[in-house]
Amino acid sequence: MSTQIAHVLEETRSFPPPPEFQRRARVQSREQYEEMYRRSVEDPDGFWGDIAQEFHWFKRWDRVLNPDNAPFFKWFEGGLTNISYNCLDRHLQGERRTKRAIIWEGEPGDTRTLTYEELHQEVCQFANCLKQLGLKKGDRVAIYMPMIPELPVAMLACARIGAVHSVIFGGFSANAIVDRVHDFQACMIITADGGWRRGHVVELKKAVDEALPKCPSVKNVVVVHRTAQDVTMEPGRDHWWHALMKDASPDCPAEELDAEHPLYILYTSGSTGKPKGILHTTGGYLVGTAATSKYVFDLRDEDVYWCTADIGWVTGHSYIVYGILAIGGTSLMYEGAPNHPHPGRFWEIIDKYQVNVFYTAPTAIRAFAKWGEKWPQQYSLESLRLLGTVGEPINPEAWIWYYKNIGRERCPIVDTWWQTETGMIMITTLPGAAPAKPGSAGLPFFGVDPAIVSEDGEEVDAGHSGLLVVRRPWPAMLRTLYGDDERFQEVYWSKYEQQGWYFTGDGAFRDQNGYFMIIGRIDDVINVSGHRLGTMEIESALVSSPLVAEAAVVGYPHDMKGQGICAFVSVPEGVDVHESDKEVLREHVAHEIGAIAKPDVIRFTEALPKTRSGKIMRRLLRDIAAGKDSHQDTTTLEDFSVLARLRESEES
Ligand code: WTA
Repeated sequence: MSTQIAHVLEETRSFPPPPEFQRRARVQSREQYEEMYRRSVEDPDGFWGDIAQEFHWFKRWDRVLNPDNAPFFKWFEGGLTNISYNCLDRHLQGERRTKRAIIWEGEPGDTRTLTYEELHQEVCQFANCLKQLGLKKGDRVAIYMPMIPELPVAMLACARIGAVHSVIFGGFSANAIVDRVHDFQACMIITADGGWRRGHVVELKKAVDEALPKCPSVKNVVVVHRTAQDVTMEPGRDHWWHALMKDASPDCPAEELDAEHPLYILYTSGSTGKPKGILHTTGGYLVGTAATSKYVFDLRDEDVYWCTADIGWVTGHSYIVYGILAIGGTSLMYEGAPNHPHPGRFWEIIDKYQVNVFYTAPTAIRAFAKWGEKWPQQYSLESLRLLGTVGEPINPEAWIWYYKNIGRERCPIVDTWWQTETGMIMITTLPGAAPAKPGSAGLPFFGVDPAIVSEDGEEVDAGHSGLLVVRRPWPAMLRTLYGDDERFQEVYWSKYEQQGWYFTGDGAFRDQNGYFMIIGRIDDVINVSGHRLGTMEIESALVSSPLVAEAAVVGYPHDMKGQGICAFVSVPEGVDVHESDKEVLREHVAHEIGAIAKPDVIRFTEALPKTRSGKIMRRLLRDIAAGKDSHQDTTTLEDFSVLARLRESEES
């Protein structure tokens, strides 16, 4: 951690918005930002209420924020609305009717464009299919799909009738589907035969088939025909999307839903073995994601916007689908890998569709940098106006590479800090308002009140690191962990219970200029290629193998992924392990969780180093993992007992 702070503090470069950008931006100066910020925190109800008024409410709210039952905050209580209506129907009057809502490019190069009118029709039709299959308001639906237009159609159709969706990232395994479906008791799974990834078919229906025997709550499966390989369809249970849609009526009025009606559940890793089901609701989420889409991406009606995230993560929910469509944007979706069929694919897409705003992750930027400047150099990229990043701290070198080679030194970069839990961007310097500083997320968004505090809740001075908290509620905040109010209170609200602050789990500091810099997670969560993984989750997967007695998983600095996964594994008595067993264990983890959780490095040890009180010496393991490239490691079993004895006093 400390080296990272030193690193970012040394970064004195700062990049003011280009005058051309600034002149047309929504917020054009630090003064204007400060003024709007002041109003937003002095009168948050007025601020958020004004934004909410831009949307459609079947019935207006009685109260913007009800804090009476904190931390179970209620937003826009008494209001009736529908986010699908606000993303679609609201745009059908006037010019947006024929505007492109979604531009889609499949990995093999097939394309599709849906105007607002067409998207509306398809959503209404699919909502009717869902009803026909017996789906009702409040029912839960799992969505396990590739990045194809039917994915946002399915989400918006659920939202339209008040069904609660939970998108499961297509890279997760059958076991991960079982755990999630079981947790929220899905009665339906929407999937596809497969999706394209680097020229190969990812067989989604096959994974669903593997999961289904352990998912008794699921009564119906809807399958999109995408990759056309053979799949098994069980009559009565499995239905082809296109067959259902053939006769479906395009008339489906949106349900009038309570502002606090659940919209979706999205699982994310925490510091225990089981992922947490983050619950987002309707009205506040709409207002928060729309407001940030408007100000952070500074979107104009003619813009083409592209976020490269997968909709399986929160970034795709908020900034491919809901926030962007709520403000009538044109959202580009791409199905496949950035380097298929060549490492210039993204830049080719930007030129092809004249993308103006481009939002991606630091891990992707590091990969582009590695593939070399020659790829973006072959493209004009002149349409680009604004760049963004999200998901993990961006190292200043990657920031500068992005600025020069993609933004061509004329596009501001917004480094956006937020979480699955926050639902919306919380910290980022608005692109026309103030200079960007590489490696620093920057200033809080309107109405957001972050602070850096010590363990006991004292605010720390500028330049000192501490824990990042948020001191007042915001509209897109999570409402609870699905089915587990107690864990919700414990994880996020117990640490600063007296103050009533939300604890983010991140370490951060603030510079003299008020800019926030995020250092990283302080809990047992690691950030691998911008994706959150719990070390305990990977440990539980490992110990379910007969080759493993105990496992300790730690993160270590990784050039491309940000953090790599290193697993220290002790072997049961009498079991002989070989070098090849490392691959067996990696595959085992892929099967239990998904390929993203595969350890980069596995080290077998006689025993895990422990303190006298029996705690695994994680700090020692982190140091060992960071200090040595174990790919070249040839010893099969290591003995850490001497090191452990040397370190005991320090760790306990
Ligand atoms: C990290 C992704 C530094 C952070 C939207 C946070 C970041 C976790 C940034 C949430 C950023 C996200 N700079 N760190 N701009 N954005 N993080 O839930 O540790 O997948 O707590 O949400 O990613 O990850 P999640």
